[in-house]
Amino acid sequence: MARPWARARAPATIANVGPGFDVFCLALHGLGDAIAIRESSRDSIEVTGEEAGAVPRDWSGNTAGIVLDAMRRRSGIRSALEVRLEKGIPAARGLGSSAASAAAAAIGFLKAFPKARSLPTADLLEAAVEGEAAVAGRHYDNMSGALLGGFVSIASTRPIVLRREPVSDRIHIALAIPEIRLRTSEMRAVLPRDVPLEDAISNVGKAASLALALVRGDAALAGRCLEDRFATPVRARFLPAFADARDAALRAGATGASIAGSGSSVFAIAATRVAAQRSANAMADAFRETGTNAKALATRVDNSLPLAGLARIRGPSFSLVTT
Ligand code: HSE
Repeated sequence: MARPWARARAPATIANVGPGFDVFCLALHGLGDAIAIRESSRDSIEVTGEEAGAVPRDWSGNTAGIVLDAMRRRSGIRSALEVRLEKGIPAARGLGSSAASAAAAAIGFLKAFPKARSLPTADLLEAAVEGEAAVAGRHYDNMSGALLGGFVSIASTRPIVLRREPVSDRIHIALAIPEIRLRTSEMRAVLPRDVPLEDAISNVGKAASLALALVRGDAALAGRCLEDRFATPVRARFLPAFADARDAALRAGATGASIAGSGSSVFAIAATRVAAQRSANAMADAFRETGTNAKALATRVDNSLPLAGLARIRGPSFSLVTT
């Protein structure tokens, strides 16, 4: 008789959130990757869904397969696995597509093998990051958001020190997802090596204020704190419609806008659902005016905890501090 499927899902995420390069992440409602895993006689993976043709479909090239290998190594569970991955997040749009597949794989493994739930949460994060590192460069922000939901602020990755908080429902998110693919590894290669002191001060001040604003539900302050003087100026050169999209969002009622992760999506913060929808439409129109089709989406932060019941953590607010 066929073994039962273990099913899991992980959300799309916005990493950086403006000034928090590699350290901030928001999980989003409405977009996510789903996975089904069961024991089998040999490893296999099938990828379907949104732009499934754009992601690797072989076990050792797909983030899900890489993470499942890492989970087996760390847990000592050796079973071969049959995997069905359904993409709900388009790849290379700065929405944490590879991280969501990797996180869903790690969560699915924990559901399939209760014994693995004794792994420390930091080990789960490290195993999932192995999948991300193989395809997009080693960064923990999208993965932390995909595994933990809400808002994550990372103080350190070696050792792991982070804080997870739910975001106020007074914060609304507008998204424009253009038909442009920007590879994270390439967008990391263009980053400056040095940051002028005044830009570093600006980013630190805005990041600290942004974290408070997201948790307290101050959309006006959060929007004002999205300015990033490190990655955004160089990456905007690869996204010529960005400045127009940001200006259009502000005119439509958003309080601020920035590039989602390493792009190509652009997001904005708004104080109401109506303003978020208008801003999303305005940003998508700005892309269309430059000849690029784009989807508009108004959403909120997904405060659910994907690892709930599967790891030694209790939501909704917690710190993970390892030594
Ligand atoms: N922090 C990463 C980067 C996120 O900006 O390169 C990629 O989505």
